[in-house]
Amino acid sequence: MHGPRAISYYEAIMSAATLPTTRDTSVPLSENKHLLRWVEKMAELTRPERIYWVDGSEQEYQTLCAELVESGTFIKLNEDLWPGCYYARSDPGDVARVESRTFICSLSKDNAGPTNNWENPYEMRRKLKELFSGAMRGRTMYVLPFSMGPIGSPMSQIGVQLTDSPYVVVSMRIMARIGFRVIQEIDKDEKRVVPCLHSVGVPLAPGQKDVPWPCNKEKYIVHFPETREIWSYGSGYGGNALLGKKCFALRIASNIARDEGWMAEHMLILGVEDPNGQKTYITAAFPSACGKTNFSMLVPPKGFEGWKVWTVGDDIAWIKPDANGCLRAINPEAGFFGVAPGTSLKTNPNAMAALARNTIFTNTALTPEGGVWWEGMTDEPPAECLDWQGNLWTPQIAKETGAKAAHPNSRFTAPASQCPTIDPDWEAPDGVPISAFIFGGRRASTVPLVYQAFNWSAGVYVGATMASEMTAAAVGGTGQVRRDPMAMLPFCGYHMGDYFRHWLNLQKGLRETPRIFHVNWFRKDAQGKFLWPGYSENMRVLRWIVDRAHGRALGKETPIGWMPGYEDIDWKGLESFPKETFETLQAFDRAAWQNEVLQHEELFMKLHDHLPPQMVYERELLIYRL
Ligand code: GTP
Ligand code: SPV
Ligand code: MN
Repeated sequence: MHGPRAISYYEAIMSAATLPTTRDTSVPLSENKHLLRWVEKMAELTRPERIYWVDGSEQEYQTLCAELVESGTFIKLNEDLWPGCYYARSDPGDVARVESRTFICSLSKDNAGPTNNWENPYEMRRKLKELFSGAMRGRTMYVLPFSMGPIGSPMSQIGVQLTDSPYVVVSMRIMARIGFRVIQEIDKDEKRVVPCLHSVGVPLAPGQKDVPWPCNKEKYIVHFPETREIWSYGSGYGGNALLGKKCFALRIASNIARDEGWMAEHMLILGVEDPNGQKTYITAAFPSACGKTNFSMLVPPKGFEGWKVWTVGDDIAWIKPDANGCLRAINPEAGFFGVAPGTSLKTNPNAMAALARNTIFTNTALTPEGGVWWEGMTDEPPAECLDWQGNLWTPQIAKETGAKAAHPNSRFTAPASQCPTIDPDWEAPDGVPISAFIFGGRRASTVPLVYQAFNWSAGVYVGATMASEMTAAAVGGTGQVRRDPMAMLPFCGYHMGDYFRHWLNLQKGLRETPRIFHVNWFRKDAQGKFLWPGYSENMRVLRWIVDRAHGRALGKETPIGWMPGYEDIDWKGLESFPKETFETLQAFDRAAWQNEVLQHEELFMKLHDHLPPQMVYERELLIYRL
């Protein structure tokens, strides 16, 4: 598709002090022969009108955003209210991850396991080649190099996404480190690159006018674990399309991690600093839309003066034992793709600060002043606005029809560096040291506010058997309780039973065993109201966890683990919280747990031939205690 390079941009850049202000964007930025060959081959397959090498510069970002405004995908928000911000509405059929169309195409079906969709990789390749054939006609194919993890970190991984969506390019510039500095890494060490091919699946005939959000009804999100490849077709939204995120940093990375002895987890990373300045880093795995972003940016409540919570990451953690047998974690991402509804100055002021500028909003509501709004952002809704589909929305209409102004899975794409609590070490190449793991889910009943597993294998069992109500983050099934091991059900790129084994083995290389906890902010009373105020007040639970991790707090033994008594929690500033409510939150209901264990068995039956024996023993012990 492109001729030999007249002059090397690479050479030009190396000899120039600054980036040239104009360049021929079709000229390859890389010298890597494998990369160039692959780009050429994929262009032959998809037949784009032109190829564009993304350099990642600010100027390029501004140009692409202006083009997106021009084409109707973006609306520029009011610069006085929302500086540097843009607004997009997706196609109403492309609003969340599509788990039913997500595939792990390992050579053997057994390796994908029963919790993943699998197709024969040869069959799937044939199918994909058909779908991608000419898929980019009339469009630009962007060559988007990206690094998951800080550039140059020994824990980072590199990918190149070919995409026909400029929305994806500008979003990826916020979510990952992209462009020329990544090319330099690729060219320097001939680093392994994960090839990621993405098309919205809407070729344009000559002269055909584009729509604001092109996508195809038919969607395929496909991973080839052995060859470390990603092919994504038909969607432009979130985890389906920003391939560095769930596809690479979880599904492919979990395979790399398994081979190399580390962990790729759906976890936030935070640092708790106590009034003496001692810092404890913790990771927490909650399923999609179950509170990771909020917890990672927690503002300590009244009564916790002198305490600070620092944010390292809000969604994904790559965790690796270092040479001293200490676990260290990096956040592979550079931005937040956060749930908008429920985010407010009260619930998450740090997210509100992070998204106040240079942010892309998708599927929120648009106010007449050229701002954004979503349910839960303010106590008073705007008198009127346009909803996420562009229709007039008023509080009255909402009352009558139940219409939401913002889609429940509407999101902000904001630079992590803009978060006021971003940890000074959030880009440390060797990561931060991890002292404890928290698992959690959205459970209206049965599961207490907090408990600690007895030991490592009991903790792995707690993670392996956790469950949560499904949310709008994925298409279908909202509200149903499902098992979601380690919050990785949609993201583990290999057999879940082997994944549990990998977790069990992790402990062997560690000098000190991290403590494992389970939390549930979402237990409800008989009237269906949350028993726990959540958000800032989660600090009280977090403090108990930190103190337990350092062996400083008391707990009572119960059949499921160690639990704090009312007097073991710091209630300073919330003395009015009724002791009875806390007891209800912590209540252990034997009958409900007997039923719960039956559901553990349901998952284990599916995984039986790969299930580590420890999981069976742990279940037996739990049944015995019940
Ligand atoms: P993903 O980005 O999909 O992985 O979601 P997440 O795990 O980061 O969830 P997030 O923090 O965005 O929270 C999702 C929803 O849960 C939002 O509407 C929050 O307002 C709400 N939420 C978060 N924390 C709490 C809490 O402690 N209590 C209650 N009741 N709701 C919460
Ligand atoms: C999730 O669903 O867990 C997300 C959003 O973080 S997405 O990037 O769309 O997967
Ligand atoms: Mn997530």
